[in-house]
Amino acid sequence: MNKTIGLASDHAGYPLKEQVKEWLKEKGYEFVDFGTNSTESCNYPEFAHALANAMEKGELTRGIAICGTGNGINMTLNHHDAIRSALCWMPEIAELARQHNDANVMVMPGRFIQADLAKECVEKFLDTPFEGGRHQARIDAIPVKR
Ligand code: RB5
Repeated sequence: MNKTIGLASDHAGYPLKEQVKEWLKEKGYEFVDFGTNSTESCNYPEFAHALANAMEKGELTRGIAICGTGNGINMTLNHHDAIRSALCWMPEIAELARQHNDANVMVMPGRFIQADLAKECVEKFLDTPFEGGRHQARIDAIPVKR
């Protein structure tokens, strides 16, 4: 895995995103922050698309994104073919998002998660490998066939 993590948030996710940066540094990761850069009200799709576009170009392999509930930014990210974004609010879900879903983006609900749990989610997301096997066929079947 690339040791540079893409970050995105809206205003509601900005404070937790700043904490995530510190945790990434502690674990020896670098990051690229696609914004937003303050708690001033903004629209989450702009920052979600910026992160997803960079991942689709192959510039980054993993991302962490945060909005208030996690839902809006997660919905936006999952419109991109190359993204499997998982909404995580407890470490076990983050771990399973990697083991079973091979999630390449983890989303957290900035307004509804305590810092200690968010930190554990980040650690699980970064440290847990994909199990493959039966889960590979399942994620292969996710894209809509038109
Ligand atoms: C912002 O108020 C809020 O709607 C946004 O952060 C997010 O929760 C949307 O899904």
